[in-house]
Amino acid sequence: MEMDDHPICVITGGTSGIGRAAAHLLAKQGYSLVIVGRNQRRGKRARSEIKRYYDQIEVSFETADLASQDDTMELAKRIRDRYPTIDLLINNAGQRIDHYQEGENGWELTFTTNHLSHYILTNSLWKQLSRSNNGSVITITSSAHWQARSDYPWIAKEHEYDRKQSYAKSKLANLLFAFEFARRAEDTGIVSNAVDPGIAATRFASNNGHIAWAKHVFSHLVRGQLRSSKDCARSIAYLAKVKDKPNEKLIFGCKSVQASADAYKRELAKELWELSSNISGIDLQFNL
Ligand SMILES: NC(=O)c1ccc[n+]([C@@H]2O[C@H](COP(=O)([O-])OP(=O)(O)OC[C@H]3O[C@@H](n4cnc5c(N)ncnc54)[C@H](OP(=O)(O)O)[C@@H]3O)[C@@H](O)[C@H]2O)c1
Repeated sequence: MEMDDHPICVITGGTSGIGRAAAHLLAKQGYSLVIVGRNQRRGKRARSEIKRYYDQIEVSFETADLASQDDTMELAKRIRDRYPTIDLLINNAGQRIDHYQEGENGWELTFTTNHLSHYILTNSLWKQLSRSNNGSVITITSSAHWQARSDYPWIAKEHEYDRKQSYAKSKLANLLFAFEFARRAEDTGIVSNAVDPGIAATRFASNNGHIAWAKHVFSHLVRGQLRSSKDCARSIAYLAKVKDKPNEKLIFGCKSVQASADAYKRELAKELWELSSNISGIDLQFNL
């Protein structure tokens, strides 16, 4: 296979944990990779680890802070300029933030990092995805989406901030977005699914300090829920490989599973889409 024959995959958060494990599995499948993360050192290490085993594919690292809308838009432009066709986009980067933080435009960071960045990236790369014969978007959610309360806002203000609710809402947003994109992009040939990877002891929650990280890991360990990052990445690898790709589905353990009732509410998906479009200034007409 020539270098140019390798399908192209863009993966956010491919420098650590589940994203890094997924990047290895996709390299094994023959995908060339564009790995996105904030940290140059981790990015270079992820790239060289993959190249050591899979020298025939191209692996590049793009630095971007997905909490910043300007950074995300610049990232999308760099990718568009370089890759006329993209086969797979994996919206994986995500975090839980214990104490309220807001970004440059005044929006709370869990929402902007976990959901808004991926709304911007996907909608900015749809044309490149539509040029592939197998254009596919995978958005990583979590079982935490079941905890999302309807009376908690999509974008919390400081006085009402609840770290668990902000995370749960962002993971519900991941699902609503994945399903709504699938419906809106129907005529483009792109499929869009969500993956619940399961629980792994990654760097997740370590941004809140060692104690917060240990509490997160221990609480899942005692419930017997911990799996390896590689195991958690298998549903992503499955969706990347399967010939007859599902559409508008939640995948867990390489199978289609039921999400919460809210995840299927069209009016909620429309509300979130309009909010995201108003904030980002991006709304798609999907003109082919
Ligand atoms: N671990 C779990 O138990 C679990 C369970 C269910 C769902 N998930 C989901 O799985 C996904 C991956 O999590 P993980 O467990 O692998 O966590 P992780 O080890 O902390 O990895 C998170 C990745 O996201 C990137 N990232 C975070 N904030 C970013 C930002 N502002 N800009 C750019 N990149 C950013 C990080 O890159 P750098 O720090 O290198 O910049 C890193 O590569 C998340 O969406 C999470 O919600 C995890």
